[in-house]
Formats: sequence, structure tokens, C-alpha cells
Amino acid sequence: GTRFAVSCREQRIGTIELIIPGKQNVLNALAAIAVADQLQVPFEKMAAALGEFTGAKRRFERKFDDHGIVVVDDYAHHPTEIRATINAAKTLGYKRVIAAFQPHRYTRTQALCAEFATAFRQADKLFLTEVYAASEQPIPGVSGQSICDAVVGTGQENVAYEADLEVLTGKLAAVAQPGDLLLIMGAGNIYKVAAGVAEMLQQRGRQAAPPARDLGKELQGQLSRHAVVRAGEPMSRHTTMRVGGPAELWVEPWDEADLARLLKFCRAQQVPILLIGRGTNLLVRDGGIRGVVAQLSSEHFTRVTVDGERIMAGGGARLKHIVNEAKTNELGGFEFLEGIPGSLGGALRMNAGAMGQQTFGVVDRVRYMSLTGETYEADAKTIPVSYRSCPLFASHVAVSAILRGRQVARAEIDARLREYSERRWATQPPQPSAGCVFKNPTLAPAGKLIDESGLKGTSIGGACVSPKHGNFIVNEGGATARDVLQLIGLVRERVRQERGIELETEVMIVGEER
Ligand code: EPU
Repeated sequence: GTRFAVSCREQRIGTIELIIPGKQNVLNALAAIAVADQLQVPFEKMAAALGEFTGAKRRFERKFDDHGIVVVDDYAHHPTEIRATINAAKTLGYKRVIAAFQPHRYTRTQALCAEFATAFRQADKLFLTEVYAASEQPIPGVSGQSICDAVVGTGQENVAYEADLEVLTGKLAAVAQPGDLLLIMGAGNIYKVAAGVAEMLQQRGRQAAPPARDLGKELQGQLSRHAVVRAGEPMSRHTTMRVGGPAELWVEPWDEADLARLLKFCRAQQVPILLIGRGTNLLVRDGGIRGVVAQLSSEHFTRVTVDGERIMAGGGARLKHIVNEAKTNELGGFEFLEGIPGSLGGALRMNAGAMGQQTFGVVDRVRYMSLTGETYEADAKTIPVSYRSCPLFASHVAVSAILRGRQVARAEIDARLREYSERRWATQPPQPSAGCVFKNPTLAPAGKLIDESGLKGTSIGGACVSPKHGNFIVNEGGATARDVLQLIGLVRERVRQERGIELETEVMIVGEER
């Protein structure tokens, strides 16, 4: 199982142990905690109930998960359920969500046809089949085809009708490609299609010829056994914006020696490599990232230790962790990092800042590695930095750093942290985002310019200019990188036209178009 501690605003609430492991289940459990809290269910009672839960049949039930293809069977049969299920599926980071739906009962199909017409909007591809009668008599003119016509009538593309469930099974298996989530929905007997597709894909897997070259395997052979190497990892899982296609290879090196081996391997094999922090300032395009995407997330890179007024931290250490260690040891000066959700390496790369201060203001020394695997150390004062940029780390990896604080009473640190946190929650949105999208031009803050241009609340797809802060684009669920990029384009265009100011993005934009 998975055991995790639950804290809220740094206060430990308790521990939950789940029988079914997995990040998604942990996230589900956290959502349940929030609901239980609203209903005033005691934590222990709710934790025990969650711990016993083993999943429900036909509720986002995974029937197949292999070769980068997932088949899900779901009972959704009402337009609102269908929309919610597809939108949820879209947040999971698959390249395509391919939906199949069997309408349930003629009366419902007739009554809700207009709602069905727009319920599948977020699906990349849609198959509709015949109505499951559930003991009703057919109604003339009401069929799966009539829903199909209504959907096509809204302008949605890639929609097909297939009355025969067996033929539908074959068609779904045939279109499935790595990176796809097949979402098969309905309350009738369409679960047979989900089972059939799973079986056909299993068969296909057994017959498939091995790929000509498996870079992941070769790389795994070069790295320590603790290193993580995964193919086709959705980057939406590793970015706070929660959008982005898959990384061809996702790698978490174990220690410095592993990192050096990884960099040397990529150089020798001419495989592009991108080091990321916690993905807080990163926008990955929907086609994903070719080559290796690496993150320093093992315990070797996330350690934080304190010695007098110095803090030694790995490049992968979370800023929040550093702030907490500093507080425990009554070291002041790091409070401004409280609201920056990234890692130390990412903060060094971007010279991240908040509350009028910047990362390099608290750094003493930095240890870093070249892309050829050599390690260096430097006094931070000798490293050129500017507002939201440190060019050295565009071509080097920040392995660790020594930060310097000053002794301050804990109450004072607490008060400052509270003040910053309150200020941030009052001005910044809680929804998934990549932080501020644009750098502040010298003339006026980007948020103010966007606010004055009247663009707050404007949305494209699932992406929206936050009504709370103009310089944030938030993912309201189901956004794609394309939506976000289009919105960025729209904002830049409007501010250019109205104010003659060229906004420059602060978020890093990487990857390929789908
Ligand atoms: N403002 C508006 N309307 C808005 C948003 C802002 O009029 O919709 C005005 C505010 O009233 C204020 C000014 O614009 O007078 C500046 O806004 P704010 O104080 O929120 O700060 P910011 O310049 O927008 C910067 C950093 C943030 C950091 C905050 C808090 C940049 C691009 N942004 O925001 O950093 O959290 O200060 O210190 O430098 C990030 O880098 O991702 C980030 C979020």
C-alpha cells in the first residue's frame, strides 16, 4: 500500500494508508479528505474508511494498461457524467482521449439529445454505438445515429457511428496507439467492448516485434539500479500547469555519479536532454519532448542540512523544505521563498523571486555539472544573474548549493511567513498554473497591464486568464498546451496593440506541437 502523512498549512493532521497504491489514488484520497472536512467527518474515521476502499467496478475501471495504452470502462451515461469523465481523463496527460459511448434507453436518448451533442467536446476521437434498450420499445427516429448527427452538427470532428459492438471492439483496438486513453462509457453492455479491446491489445502486445532499439533499456543498463527510467511519461504529471505531452524518456538519476553517466550517455548517443525542477514554471507543448527529461528527485538531490548559518541543499530540494528547515533552525532571510512552489535547481536556473527578493540574494556557493559530466564549484557572487534569469544553468545542471541566512527569532520568521502567505493567497489564484506567465516590463507590472486590457476571465478551451491576477493563466480542467499558448498569444497581441508594450514570457516553453 501507500502510506502518506497529511498536513495542512504545515500542521500535521494524521496518516493515511491506502491498500491500492498510486499517485492518482493519493490525489483522490486528498480530495475525499477535503470533502470529509467540509462535512465535519472526523479525520480518523475517514482515514479508516479510505484505507479499506479497494475501488469500484465500472467507475473509471482500468481494464488494460500496457505499451503506453490504457483502456478504461466507465458507467457514465448521462451527459453531465460523460462531460465530467472525459474532462477528468483529459487532465491525466494522455496524448489522446478516445471515447466510445453506448446510449442507454430510448427515452433518455430522446430527452437529452441536445445535451449529448456537446458532452463529448473534449474527446479527441469519438465512437457512438446503438442505444441499449433496457427493456424499452424503440422510438422512431431515436438512435445512436441521432446522437452522432447531433454531435457532428456542433462541428466536432473525428466522430463515427458503429452499431455493431464486435466491429466497434475491433475498430477501437485498431486505432489505439501508445499515449492513448480509451474511455469506454455506458450503462448497458458496452463493458464487453472494454473487455474485448483489452484482450485484443494484450494479444497484439504478445505478437509485437521488439523495437529496433530500446534507448530506455540501454540507459537503465548504464545507471545505478536505484535510478528511474520510464518511457512515454506524461509531462502533465510533472508540471504544475498540468498540461503537456509525454517525455520520450523520463529519468531520475540516483546520485551525482549517475547524473554524470546520464549526461555522458546523452552526449555520446546524441540524445537531447532537458533537466527540469518541479515543473512549476514550465509549459510543455502537447506533442511532448523528444529525448530525455531528467529530474533530480532522489534523496541524494533533495537533502537539506543546516550548519550554523549555512544551509546545504541539493538541486532537487523543494524550496518549501528549505524554508521549513530554516525556520526550525531560526535562520531568517528565506521567507520570500515560501510562496515559490519549485525546487532549488529550478529557482537558481530562473533566479526565481517573490516579495521583491531573488534566489541569488541568499546563495553563497553553487556546485554544478557541465553537460559533459564534469563538476565545478563557484562563489555565487561570480555568477552573472539578472531578473528571472541565470544563463549559466541553461548549459549546466545545478547539483547543490550553500545558502546563507542569519539568526532570527522564530516568532519573527513565523510572522513574515504568515504575512507573505496571506498576501499571496489574497492576490494569486489557487488553480493549477505555471505562476506568472510574463516577466514584468519596466514600465508597469504585466498583471496590471493585462488587467487594464480587460482580458481577465478570458478563456480558450480549458485555459483562462485568472480573474484574480492578470499575469496567471489557470487550467480550469482539461486545458491543453495549445489552449494556453493561444491565450498567451491573445494577451500579447492585445497588450501590444493597446499599450505598445511587448510582453516577454517568463515561463519556459518546451516540446513539440502535437
Ligand atoms: N495588479 C493589477 N491587476 C492584476 C494583478 C496585479 O492591477 O490582475 C497590480 C497589483 O495591484 C500591483 C502590481 O500589479 O500593484 C503588481 O502585482 P503583484 O504585487 O501581484 O506582483 P507581480 O509583479 O504581478 C511578482 C512576481 C511573482 C511574485 C509576486 C509576489 C513577476 C513576473 N512576478 O508578481 O512571481 O509571486 O511578485 O512577490 O516578477 C512568478 O515568478 O511566477 C511569480 C508568480
